Amino acid sequence: MSILVTGGAGYIGSHTCVELLEAGKDIVIVDNFVNSKPEALERIKAITKKDFKFYEADLIDREAIEKIFAENEIDAVIHFAGLKAVGESVSIPLRYYHNNITGTLILCEVMAKYGCKRMVFSSSATVYGMSNIPPYNETMPTSATNPYGRTKLMIEEILKDLCISDSEWSTVMLRYFNPIGAHKSGLIGESPNGIPNNLLPYVAMVANGKLKHLNVYGDDYETPDGTGVRDYIHVVDLAKGHLKALNYAYNNTGAKAVNLGTGHGYSVLDVVKAYEKASGKNVPYVIGPRRPGDVAASFADASEAKRVFNWEATLGIDEMCEDSWRFASNNQ
Ligand code: NAD
Ligand code: UFG
Repeated sequence: MSILVTGGAGYIGSHTCVELLEAGKDIVIVDNFVNSKPEALERIKAITKKDFKFYEADLIDREAIEKIFAENEIDAVIHFAGLKAVGESVSIPLRYYHNNITGTLILCEVMAKYGCKRMVFSSSATVYGMSNIPPYNETMPTSATNPYGRTKLMIEEILKDLCISDSEWSTVMLRYFNPIGAHKSGLIGESPNGIPNNLLPYVAMVANGKLKHLNVYGDDYETPDGTGVRDYIHVVDLAKGHLKALNYAYNNTGAKAVNLGTGHGYSVLDVVKAYEKASGKNVPYVIGPRRPGDVAASFADASEAKRVFNWEATLGIDEMCEDSWRFASNNQ
């Protein structure tokens, strides 16, 4: 039996594939490389010294997805594939709805057809919206402020409905906080195209001299130093959380939402300091206006993951920055 990993060539997917292979699992990866490169697959093999089947296909292509299920015995799916740029989702919403939602619907339909009813889905802390007060726990009301966030919210609802309609289904919806860092090997990590939107890849480019300075989006929030606070989680800790979630999905049915975060918040300036320490480089910054749609602080109540998965994050901000820097300086 194999586990299908959609979006396995991407940032979180590639790290999770490494953990799955190292745990002795058989995996099949599907990706269309819309936001990744084939190189990532070679690097997963180099790290693990293990092989796997790969299909270059789009989730929207039902025939291609059916072929994967017809040719392999898939008994669970870890579903990472999706578009994730918040700003882009505002300018091209239909592409986001089509890719993320239609892609998931087709995947679920094909899974049901082949009797595969276990899924671990990449949701996001963005579903906690703007009005909850952190730490966020899974019982809080959810909402979204942009098309990307709405795709996550809608997919969570779709998966819940699916589990209500058929009691054999098991779906675990993992609400990630802010994944950063990279694998210790320095071979896989996050390398967005163009100018990064997210803090860590931007800071990495400032540290290695590709960008002049960081623009800090606001220093007048009600936080200890006025800059935005987030729950940064090492991508390898996050990847390990998926193995626990998968195990949960094999032993339970129904729809379950679980936060994957550390429970600790760091400000933008904390991250800048930690990155300077890890890299030995200066990270100059300029304070600018707030970015529309940002919340002051977002961090997890991480107790449910500990309770139901017996999982908790183990790596701290220094290790996150060291590993990010190793990858950034190896892959200039
Ligand atoms: P990523 O862009 O690096 O990986 C996504 C992968 O999916 C890419 O390799 C891309 O080529 C592939 N893909 C996208 N649409 C596809 C399609 N229709 N068919 C086949 N492949 C497709 O992103 P990531 O950071 O690894 O995120 C993985 C998942 O986690 C996404 O669903 C994202 O929304 C979610 N998430 C990410 C973050 C984050 O900060 N990175 C936070 C919360 C949730
Ligand atoms: N920030 C800056 N300058 C930058 C980039 C970011 O000051 O150039 C600040 C932001 O204002 C925020 C913090 O750094 O306070 C983190 O910003 P990111 O863009 O890295 O992360 P977000 O928390 O805004 O959002 C990310 C993903 C979302 C996801 C969310 C929760 O981009 O898709 O985490 O998981 F929904």
